[in-house]
Amino acid sequence: MISQRAKNLSPSETLKISAKAKELIRQGKSVISLSAGEPDFKTPGHICAAAIKAIEDGFHGYTMNTGTPELRQAIVDKLKRDNGLEYSPADIVVSNGAKQSIGFTFLATIDPGDEVIIPSPYWVSYPEMVKLAGGTPVVLKTSIKNNYKLQPEDLDALMTNNTKALVLCSPSNPTGAMYTPDELKEIAKVLRNYPDVLIISDEIYEYIVFEGEHTGILQAAPDLQDRTVLINGFSKGFAMTGWRLGYLAGPAEIASAVAKIQSQETSAPSSISQKAGEAAYNGPLDDVLTMRKAFKERRDYVVNALLEIPGLNCFMPSGAFYVFPDCSAYLGKKTKDGSVIHTSTDLCIYLLEQHGVAAVPGDAFGEPAGFRISYAVSMDQLKEAIKRLKKGFNELEDE
Ligand SMILES: Cc1ncc(COP(=O)(O)O)c(C=O)c1O
Repeated sequence: MISQRAKNLSPSETLKISAKAKELIRQGKSVISLSAGEPDFKTPGHICAAAIKAIEDGFHGYTMNTGTPELRQAIVDKLKRDNGLEYSPADIVVSNGAKQSIGFTFLATIDPGDEVIIPSPYWVSYPEMVKLAGGTPVVLKTSIKNNYKLQPEDLDALMTNNTKALVLCSPSNPTGAMYTPDELKEIAKVLRNYPDVLIISDEIYEYIVFEGEHTGILQAAPDLQDRTVLINGFSKGFAMTGWRLGYLAGPAEIASAVAKIQSQETSAPSSISQKAGEAAYNGPLDDVLTMRKAFKERRDYVVNALLEIPGLNCFMPSGAFYVFPDCSAYLGKKTKDGSVIHTSTDLCIYLLEQHGVAAVPGDAFGEPAGFRISYAVSMDQLKEAIKRLKKGFNELEDE
Protein backbone atom coordinates (compact mmCIF):
# COMPACT_ATOMS: atom_id res chain seq x y z
CA MET A 1 0.00 0.00 0.00
CA ILE A 2 2.72 2.48 0.96
CA SER A 3 5.05 4.04 -1.60
CA GLN A 4 8.79 3.61 -1.45
CA ARG A 5 8.99 7.39 -1.20
CA ALA A 6 6.99 7.46 2.02
CA LYS A 7 8.82 4.44 3.39
CA ASN A 8 12.19 6.14 2.83
CA LEU A 9 11.11 9.15 4.87
CA SER A 10 12.03 9.46 8.56
CA PRO A 11 9.36 10.90 10.83
CA SER A 12 10.24 14.17 12.53
CA GLU A 13 12.22 13.30 15.68
CA THR A 14 11.41 16.67 17.23
CA LEU A 15 7.71 15.92 16.97
CA LYS A 16 8.30 12.40 18.36
CA ILE A 17 9.88 13.64 21.60
CA SER A 18 7.20 16.35 21.99
CA ALA A 19 4.55 13.62 21.60
CA LYS A 20 6.24 11.49 24.28
CA ALA A 21 6.42 14.50 26.59
CA LYS A 22 2.73 15.24 26.01
CA GLU A 23 1.86 11.63 26.78
CA LEU A 24 3.75 11.79 30.11
CA ILE A 25 2.00 15.07 30.98
CA ARG A 26 -1.33 13.42 30.17
CA GLN A 27 -0.44 10.69 32.66
CA GLY A 28 -0.02 13.40 35.29
CA LYS A 29 3.83 13.56 35.30
CA SER A 30 5.60 16.87 35.70
CA VAL A 31 7.46 17.54 32.45
CA ILE A 32 9.17 20.71 31.28
CA SER A 33 9.41 20.69 27.54
CA LEU A 34 12.53 22.25 26.10
CA SER A 35 11.82 20.62 22.78
CA ALA A 36 9.60 23.14 21.05
CA GLY A 37 10.69 25.05 17.99
CA GLU A 38 8.36 27.93 18.57
CA PRO A 39 8.32 31.16 20.57
CA ASP A 40 6.25 31.07 23.76
CA PHE A 41 4.95 34.60 23.13
CA LYS A 42 1.66 35.74 21.65
CA THR A 43 1.46 37.13 18.15
CA PRO A 44 1.64 40.95 18.48
CA GLY A 45 -1.74 42.68 18.83
CA HIS A 46 -1.63 44.82 15.68
CA ILE A 47 -1.00 41.68 13.59
CA CYS A 48 -3.97 39.89 15.15
CA ALA A 49 -6.12 43.01 14.60
CA ALA A 50 -5.28 42.97 10.88
CA ALA A 51 -6.37 39.33 10.66
CA ILE A 52 -9.62 40.04 12.50
CA LYS A 53 -10.30 42.92 10.15
CA ALA A 54 -9.63 40.64 7.17
CA ILE A 55 -12.27 38.23 8.46
CA GLU A 56 -14.75 41.00 9.13
CA ASP A 57 -14.13 42.51 5.69
CA GLY A 58 -14.88 39.14 4.12
CA PHE A 59 -11.36 38.65 2.77
CA HIS A 60 -11.93 34.95 2.60
CA GLY A 61 -11.39 33.90 -0.99
CA TYR A 62 -8.43 32.23 -2.64
CA THR A 63 -5.71 34.79 -3.22
CA MET A 64 -3.27 34.94 -6.10
CA ASN A 65 -1.32 31.72 -6.22
CA THR A 66 1.99 33.35 -5.22
CA GLY A 67 0.44 35.54 -2.51
CA THR A 68 -1.42 38.84 -2.57
CA PRO A 69 0.30 41.67 -4.47
CA GLU A 70 0.14 43.73 -1.25
CA LEU A 71 1.97 41.13 0.85
CA ARG A 72 4.56 40.47 -1.84
CA GLN A 73 5.13 44.24 -2.07
CA ALA A 74 5.50 44.38 1.75
CA ILE A 75 8.09 41.60 1.48
CA VAL A 76 9.96 43.41 -1.30
CA ASP A 77 9.96 46.58 0.83
CA LYS A 78 11.18 44.65 3.89
CA LEU A 79 13.99 42.97 1.94
CA LYS A 80 15.11 46.42 0.76
CA ARG A 81 14.71 48.10 4.17
CA ASP A 82 16.17 45.41 6.44
CA ASN A 83 18.49 43.53 4.11
CA GLY A 84 19.45 46.01 1.39
CA LEU A 85 18.27 43.59 -1.29
CA GLU A 86 16.47 44.43 -4.55
CA TYR A 87 13.64 42.13 -5.55
CA SER A 88 10.44 42.57 -7.50
CA PRO A 89 7.09 41.02 -6.46
CA ALA A 90 7.52 38.47 -9.29
CA ASP A 91 10.54 37.03 -7.47
CA ILE A 92 8.50 36.26 -4.34
CA VAL A 93 6.35 33.20 -3.63
CA VAL A 94 4.42 33.17 -0.36
CA SER A 95 3.63 29.71 1.02
CA ASN A 96 2.11 27.95 4.01
CA GLY A 97 5.21 28.43 6.12
CA ALA A 98 8.87 28.57 5.23
CA LYS A 99 8.85 24.79 5.43
CA GLN A 100 6.70 24.63 2.34
CA SER A 101 8.84 27.25 0.58
CA ILE A 102 11.90 25.05 1.15
CA GLY A 103 10.14 21.83 0.18
CA PHE A 104 8.78 23.33 -3.04
CA THR A 105 12.18 24.84 -3.87
CA PHE A 106 13.70 21.35 -3.74
CA LEU A 107 10.84 19.95 -5.83
CA ALA A 108 11.34 22.72 -8.37
CA THR A 109 15.11 22.35 -8.71
CA ILE A 110 16.21 18.79 -7.95
CA ASP A 111 16.40 15.89 -10.36
CA PRO A 112 17.25 12.29 -9.44
CA GLY A 113 20.98 11.98 -8.81
CA ASP A 114 21.37 15.61 -7.73
CA GLU A 115 23.23 16.14 -4.48
CA VAL A 116 22.41 18.77 -1.91
CA ILE A 117 25.07 19.67 0.64
CA ILE A 118 23.63 20.09 4.12
CA PRO A 119 25.89 21.09 7.01
CA SER A 120 25.20 19.12 10.21
CA PRO A 121 23.85 19.56 12.79
CA TYR A 122 20.98 20.44 10.46
CA TRP A 123 17.32 21.29 10.77
CA VAL A 124 15.62 17.89 10.69
CA SER A 125 13.56 18.51 7.57
CA TYR A 126 16.27 19.40 5.03
CA PRO A 127 17.56 15.88 4.26
CA GLU A 128 14.08 14.37 4.24
CA MET A 129 12.80 17.05 1.88
CA VAL A 130 15.73 16.49 -0.46
CA LYS A 131 14.94 12.76 -0.47
CA LEU A 132 11.26 13.47 -1.15
CA ALA A 133 12.33 15.50 -4.18
CA GLY A 134 14.40 12.55 -5.45
CA GLY A 135 17.79 14.02 -4.58
CA THR A 136 20.61 12.84 -2.37
CA PRO A 137 21.43 14.71 0.82
CA VAL A 138 25.18 15.01 1.37
CA VAL A 139 25.96 15.80 4.97
CA LEU A 140 28.83 18.18 5.67
CA LYS A 141 29.94 17.46 9.20
CA THR A 142 31.00 20.43 11.31
CA SER A 143 32.69 20.59 14.69
CA ILE A 144 31.86 22.27 17.97
CA LYS A 145 35.43 23.61 17.77
CA ASN A 146 34.10 25.95 15.08
CA ASN A 147 30.76 26.53 16.79
CA TYR A 148 29.28 24.01 14.34
CA LYS A 149 29.87 26.31 11.38
CA LEU A 150 30.98 24.87 8.07
CA GLN A 151 34.57 25.42 7.04
CA PRO A 152 35.07 26.56 3.43
CA GLU A 153 37.66 23.83 2.69
CA ASP A 154 35.22 21.14 3.84
CA LEU A 155 32.59 22.57 1.52
CA ASP A 156 35.06 22.54 -1.36
CA ALA A 157 35.95 18.91 -0.63
CA LEU A 158 32.32 17.78 -0.93
CA MET A 159 31.57 19.47 -4.25
CA THR A 160 31.09 17.01 -7.13
CA ASN A 161 29.71 17.23 -10.65
CA ASN A 162 26.36 16.25 -9.17
CA THR A 163 26.22 18.99 -6.55
CA LYS A 164 23.05 20.94 -7.14
CA ALA A 165 22.71 23.07 -4.03
CA LEU A 166 24.07 24.08 -0.66
CA VAL A 167 21.76 24.76 2.27
CA LEU A 168 22.83 27.50 4.67
CA CYS A 169 20.88 28.16 7.85
CA SER A 170 21.90 31.19 9.88
CA PRO A 171 21.10 31.73 12.69
CA SER A 172 20.95 27.98 12.93
CA ASN A 173 18.38 25.55 14.13
CA PRO A 174 19.57 23.52 16.09
CA THR A 175 22.77 25.26 17.25
CA GLY A 176 21.94 28.98 17.35
CA ALA A 177 25.24 29.66 15.58
CA MET A 178 25.33 32.61 13.22
CA TYR A 179 27.84 33.16 10.44
CA THR A 180 29.76 36.43 10.51
CA PRO A 181 30.07 38.53 7.33
CA ASP A 182 33.73 37.46 7.02
CA GLU A 183 32.86 33.77 7.32
CA LEU A 184 30.18 34.17 4.65
CA LYS A 185 32.67 35.91 2.38
CA GLU A 186 35.00 32.92 2.66
CA ILE A 187 32.15 30.53 1.84
CA ALA A 188 31.24 32.72 -1.13
CA LYS A 189 34.79 32.41 -2.46
CA VAL A 190 34.33 28.64 -2.69
CA LEU A 191 30.88 28.99 -4.23
CA ARG A 192 32.22 31.26 -6.97
CA ASN A 193 34.25 28.30 -8.24
CA TYR A 194 31.02 26.34 -8.77
CA PRO A 195 28.78 28.67 -10.75
CA ASP A 196 25.98 26.13 -11.26
CA VAL A 197 25.43 25.42 -7.57
CA LEU A 198 22.32 26.94 -6.04
CA ILE A 199 22.37 28.41 -2.55
CA ILE A 200 19.36 27.99 -0.32
CA SER A 201 19.72 30.51 2.47
CA ASP A 202 17.30 29.86 5.31
CA GLU A 203 17.07 33.07 7.33
CA ILE A 204 13.93 32.31 9.32
CA TYR A 205 15.62 33.30 12.62
CA GLU A 206 16.78 36.63 11.20
CA TYR A 207 15.07 38.73 13.86
CA ILE A 208 16.29 36.63 16.79
CA VAL A 209 19.92 37.68 16.98
CA PHE A 210 21.88 38.83 20.00
CA GLU A 211 25.24 39.99 18.71
CA GLY A 212 25.12 42.67 16.05
CA GLU A 213 22.69 42.47 13.18
CA HIS A 214 21.91 39.43 11.10
CA THR A 215 23.95 39.07 7.91
CA GLY A 216 22.97 36.68 5.16
CA ILE A 217 25.05 35.32 2.30
CA LEU A 218 23.67 37.99 -0.04
CA GLN A 219 24.87 40.88 2.10
CA ALA A 220 28.32 39.26 2.14
CA ALA A 221 28.28 38.32 -1.56
CA PRO A 222 25.66 40.26 -3.56
CA ASP A 223 26.95 38.73 -6.82
CA LEU A 224 25.39 35.38 -5.79
CA GLN A 225 21.82 36.72 -5.89
CA ASP A 226 21.02 35.19 -9.28
CA ARG A 227 21.51 31.69 -7.83
CA THR A 228 20.33 32.13 -4.27
CA VAL A 229 16.91 31.26 -2.96
CA LEU A 230 16.32 33.26 0.18
CA ILE A 231 13.92 31.64 2.63
CA ASN A 232 12.17 33.56 5.36
CA GLY A 233 8.87 33.72 7.15
CA PHE A 234 6.84 35.03 10.04
CA SER A 235 6.80 32.05 12.42
CA LYS A 236 9.79 32.80 14.62
CA GLY A 237 10.35 36.56 14.65
CA PHE A 238 6.67 37.44 15.07
CA ALA A 239 5.58 34.37 17.07
CA MET A 240 3.29 33.25 14.26
CA THR A 241 4.03 29.52 13.94
CA GLY A 242 0.39 28.50 13.67
CA TRP A 243 -0.48 31.08 11.05
CA ARG A 244 1.59 29.10 8.52
CA LEU A 245 3.15 31.88 6.53
CA GLY A 246 6.58 31.93 4.90
CA TYR A 247 8.10 32.82 1.57
CA LEU A 248 10.98 32.56 -0.81
CA ALA A 249 12.70 35.31 -2.74
CA GLY A 250 14.73 34.06 -5.64
CA PRO A 251 15.50 34.09 -9.33
CA ALA A 252 12.24 34.61 -11.26
CA GLU A 253 12.70 31.28 -13.07
CA ILE A 254 12.76 29.36 -9.76
CA ALA A 255 9.94 31.47 -8.32
CA SER A 256 7.69 30.62 -11.26
CA ALA A 257 8.56 26.90 -11.11
CA VAL A 258 7.70 26.92 -7.38
CA ALA A 259 4.49 28.84 -8.15
CA LYS A 260 3.49 26.14 -10.66
CA ILE A 261 4.02 23.40 -8.05
CA GLN A 262 2.20 25.40 -5.41
CA SER A 263 -0.72 26.02 -7.77
CA GLN A 264 -1.23 22.25 -8.04
CA GLU A 265 -0.51 21.36 -4.43
CA THR A 266 -2.04 24.02 -2.19
CA SER A 267 -3.27 26.89 -4.42
CA ALA A 268 -2.13 29.67 -2.08
CA PRO A 269 -1.53 30.38 1.59
CA SER A 270 -4.38 31.46 3.87
CA SER A 271 -5.86 34.83 2.89
CA ILE A 272 -6.27 35.84 6.55
CA SER A 273 -2.67 34.97 7.43
CA GLN A 274 -1.47 37.00 4.48
CA LYS A 275 -3.22 40.11 5.81
CA ALA A 276 -1.55 39.41 9.14
CA GLY A 277 1.84 39.10 7.43
CA GLU A 278 1.33 42.41 5.66
CA ALA A 279 0.68 44.08 9.03
CA ALA A 280 3.79 42.42 10.47
CA TYR A 281 6.11 43.73 7.77
CA ASN A 282 4.50 47.17 7.44
CA GLY A 283 4.13 47.72 11.19
CA PRO A 284 6.37 48.46 14.18
CA LEU A 285 8.98 45.94 15.37
CA ASP A 286 8.65 46.79 19.09
CA ASP A 287 7.22 43.40 20.03
CA VAL A 288 9.90 41.63 18.01
CA LEU A 289 12.56 43.52 19.95
CA THR A 290 10.87 42.75 23.28
CA MET A 291 10.89 39.03 22.46
CA ARG A 292 14.51 39.25 21.36
CA LYS A 293 15.45 40.84 24.68
CA ALA A 294 13.69 38.08 26.64
CA PHE A 295 15.38 35.39 24.55
CA LYS A 296 18.76 36.98 25.21
CA GLU A 297 18.23 36.95 28.99
CA ARG A 298 17.23 33.31 28.85
CA ARG A 299 20.15 32.41 26.60
CA ASP A 300 22.62 34.00 28.99
CA TYR A 301 21.07 32.20 31.94
CA VAL A 302 20.77 28.78 30.33
CA VAL A 303 24.21 28.66 28.71
CA ASN A 304 25.98 29.75 31.90
CA ALA A 305 23.99 27.20 33.91
CA LEU A 306 24.73 24.38 31.43
CA LEU A 307 28.44 25.16 31.60
CA GLU A 308 28.27 24.42 35.33
CA ILE A 309 27.44 20.79 34.51
CA PRO A 310 30.82 19.02 34.43
CA GLY A 311 31.69 17.63 31.00
CA LEU A 312 28.95 19.41 29.06
CA ASN A 313 30.39 21.61 26.38
CA CYS A 314 28.58 24.43 24.65
CA PHE A 315 29.23 27.88 23.23
CA MET A 316 27.20 31.06 23.56
CA PRO A 317 24.94 30.99 20.49
CA SER A 318 24.42 34.28 18.66
CA GLY A 319 20.85 33.74 17.54
CA ALA A 320 17.64 31.67 17.42
CA PHE A 321 16.41 30.19 20.74
CA TYR A 322 18.42 27.00 20.94
CA VAL A 323 21.55 25.70 22.65
CA PHE A 324 23.18 22.51 21.44
CA PRO A 325 25.47 21.14 24.16
CA ASP A 326 27.97 18.41 23.36
CA CYS A 327 27.23 15.54 25.73
CA SER A 328 29.82 13.04 24.50
CA ALA A 329 31.40 12.93 27.98
CA TYR A 330 28.18 11.28 29.19
CA LEU A 331 27.82 8.66 26.47
CA GLY A 332 28.78 5.27 27.93
CA LYS A 333 27.68 6.23 31.46
CA LYS A 334 25.12 4.32 33.48
CA THR A 335 21.85 5.42 35.04
CA LYS A 336 21.00 4.57 38.67
CA ASP A 337 19.00 1.55 37.50
CA GLY A 338 21.98 0.25 35.54
CA SER A 339 21.02 1.04 31.94
CA VAL A 340 23.79 2.40 29.78
CA ILE A 341 23.42 5.69 27.89
CA HIS A 342 24.79 4.79 24.48
CA THR A 343 23.44 7.64 22.39
CA SER A 344 22.02 11.14 22.69
CA THR A 345 18.60 9.54 22.14
CA ASP A 346 19.14 7.31 25.21
CA LEU A 347 20.20 10.40 27.13
CA CYS A 348 17.12 12.42 26.14
CA ILE A 349 14.80 9.52 26.96
CA TYR A 350 16.48 9.20 30.38
CA LEU A 351 16.20 12.95 31.04
CA LEU A 352 12.56 12.90 30.01
CA GLU A 353 11.39 9.75 31.76
CA GLN A 354 13.43 10.03 34.94
CA HIS A 355 13.90 13.77 35.39
CA GLY A 356 10.95 15.31 33.55
CA VAL A 357 12.85 17.42 31.01
CA ALA A 358 12.22 17.04 27.29
CA ALA A 359 15.11 17.94 24.98
CA VAL A 360 15.76 16.71 21.44
CA PRO A 361 18.56 14.21 20.77
CA GLY A 362 21.31 15.25 18.38
CA ASP A 363 20.77 12.03 16.44
CA ALA A 364 17.75 13.79 14.92
CA PHE A 365 19.97 16.60 13.63
CA GLY A 366 22.78 14.44 12.28
CA GLU A 367 25.08 15.14 15.26
CA PRO A 368 24.89 12.29 17.75
CA ALA A 369 27.30 13.97 20.20
CA GLY A 370 24.83 16.68 21.16
CA PHE A 371 21.26 17.47 22.07
CA ARG A 372 19.08 20.50 21.52
CA ILE A 373 17.56 22.62 24.21
CA SER A 374 15.00 25.21 23.23
CA TYR A 375 14.79 28.11 25.69
CA ALA A 376 11.48 29.34 24.32
CA VAL A 377 9.92 28.84 27.76
CA SER A 378 9.52 31.13 30.78
CA MET A 379 12.46 31.91 33.03
CA ASP A 380 10.75 30.06 35.90
CA GLN A 381 10.42 26.92 33.79
CA LEU A 382 14.01 27.25 32.63
CA LYS A 383 15.27 27.49 36.21
CA GLU A 384 13.36 24.39 37.21
CA ALA A 385 14.55 22.56 34.08
CA ILE A 386 18.16 23.41 34.87
CA LYS A 387 17.75 22.11 38.41
CA ARG A 388 16.45 18.84 37.03
CA LEU A 389 19.14 18.59 34.36
CA LYS A 390 21.89 19.14 36.93
CA LYS A 391 20.45 16.34 39.04
CA GLY A 392 20.02 14.08 36.02
CA PHE A 393 23.60 14.48 34.79
CA ASN A 394 24.95 14.25 38.32
CA GLU A 395 23.30 10.87 38.84
CA LEU A 396 24.95 9.30 35.78
CA GLU A 397 27.86 7.09 36.77
CA ASP A 398 30.85 5.59 34.99
CA GLU A 399 30.27 2.06 33.77
C1 LIG B 1 15.56 26.39 10.24
C2 LIG B 1 14.10 26.39 10.00
N1 LIG B 1 13.65 26.64 8.76
C3 LIG B 1 12.34 26.64 8.49
C4 LIG B 1 11.41 26.38 9.46
C5 LIG B 1 9.95 26.37 9.07
O1 LIG B 1 9.22 27.41 9.58
P1 LIG B 1 7.71 27.66 9.19
O2 LIG B 1 7.28 26.61 8.24
O3 LIG B 1 6.95 27.65 10.46
O4 LIG B 1 7.69 29.02 8.53
C6 LIG B 1 11.82 26.10 10.76
C7 LIG B 1 10.83 25.76 11.80
O5 LIG B 1 11.10 25.12 12.78
C8 LIG B 1 13.20 26.14 11.04
O6 LIG B 1 13.66 25.90 12.28
